[in-house]
Amino acid sequence: MNGKLTFGDKSIDLPIIEGTEKEKAIDIGKLRSTTGLITLDSGYSNTGSAKSKITYLNGEEGILRHRGYRIEDLALNCTFLEVAYLVIFGDLPSKEKLDNFSERVMRHALIDERIKDVFKAFPLATHPMALLEATTVALSAFYSSSEVYGKDTKDDLERNIFRLLGKLPSLVAYSYKKKRGLPYAYPNTDLNYVENFLQMVFNVPTRKYNSNPLFREAIEKLLILHVDHELNCSTSTVRMIGSSEANLYSSISGGISALSGALHGGANQAVLEMLEQIYQQGGNIKMFIERAKDKNDSFKLMGFGHRVYKNFDPRAVIVKDLCRTILKEQAENNPLFDLALELEEQALQDSYFQERKLYPNIDFYSGLIYKAMGFSNDMFTALFVVGRLPGWIAHWVEMRNDPHSRIDRPRQVYTGATERKFTPIKERS
Ligand code: ACO
Repeated sequence: MNGKLTFGDKSIDLPIIEGTEKEKAIDIGKLRSTTGLITLDSGYSNTGSAKSKITYLNGEEGILRHRGYRIEDLALNCTFLEVAYLVIFGDLPSKEKLDNFSERVMRHALIDERIKDVFKAFPLATHPMALLEATTVALSAFYSSSEVYGKDTKDDLERNIFRLLGKLPSLVAYSYKKKRGLPYAYPNTDLNYVENFLQMVFNVPTRKYNSNPLFREAIEKLLILHVDHELNCSTSTVRMIGSSEANLYSSISGGISALSGALHGGANQAVLEMLEQIYQQGGNIKMFIERAKDKNDSFKLMGFGHRVYKNFDPRAVIVKDLCRTILKEQAENNPLFDLALELEEQALQDSYFQERKLYPNIDFYSGLIYKAMGFSNDMFTALFVVGRLPGWIAHWVEMRNDPHSRIDRPRQVYTGATERKFTPIKERS
């Protein structure tokens, strides 16, 4: 099937590409060479930059599937590493394959002792995301055997995938301990991925740490819910960096940087800070909703709205129930959770939010769960990093294995000055 584009007296046929879920795209690969035109799509809302087999997302109907499996089924029945295997390798693993995969990942949990010096060089108050950006890229100096920076062999690449999955939770735990001046806990490979992560974060030499089974289950679920979300800002960044043949560590570090922003992964921290602000200022929800609607006020309802979900975020539905269970477990009911529920209800009844299809996203609730488990606000986005890592890796590998993949290089519409006569500095006023 072809589409026709008419521009002045010119007209060209453009092929229509159809995905497996029947979604259609116009292939504009020949647009500039035949018409001289480019497309302009600020924020890329209408632009597909890849064909991908990893995740199907239908924002209108609230559908999210990885490699064909519904997120609801995966969150209910799988472990995080099982879903990581699925997105990276394409199929659900057998028990034997999963055991082997887990063993290889856990074998790489230990970090070169010299990475501690990298942590040491940073001020105590450094945000965990800054530490993760820096130390992830530092791993390439320790674990990339190639003589040409970025040009790893196939074997190196496979090992680097296991290394990243194994070491990232250790880096996150180190970031947590550093800020508190606490000794780093070594990984314990007798434990599973999530148990080991929790013990590395919360274990101190003076007190034996036993993780709460409900918290373990909640972290497992939250990590699964964050595994992949097709070509969002951070994943596109990872693919874009990798398209230049930069190595996996550098590409993932770029993804972490992109995720840190408050409009993306940083929103989970921003939601908690917003709820705390509303609570501390007397809980006047109506006033904050009015502020969010006021175009002269920069205040937004954090955790509300999504570029692709225009009905509901299926992950938020699961997280909301999880949040209720976790907070019920707490001796005292958390006033911020009640406030969050009330805020959600009032916003959903407001015509401003209804007309713009603004619904709570996953970040609206995830921070409350992390808080209840004892994580500090600045750790929330770092937890998102652990969850999103398999998705970033899967996309990077898919892009690098695609024989049609090229270096990403968008064009622009120039709106600056036309040619000006140069004036030497002595003659400038
Ligand atoms: N509060 C108030 N108004 C909002 C909000 C919000 N949270 N989100 C969107 N709007 C308004 C916009 O001002 C705009 O109004 P207008 O049409 O009158 O100009 C309209 O809704 C459409 O919003 P856009 O900004 O065009 O939507 P976009 O797709 O570009 O942005 C985003 C999506 C960044 C998620 C936005 O909704 C937002 O900033 N939300 C808060 C931050 C957040 O929760 N981010 C996490 C996203 S999920 C994730 O990355 C894990």
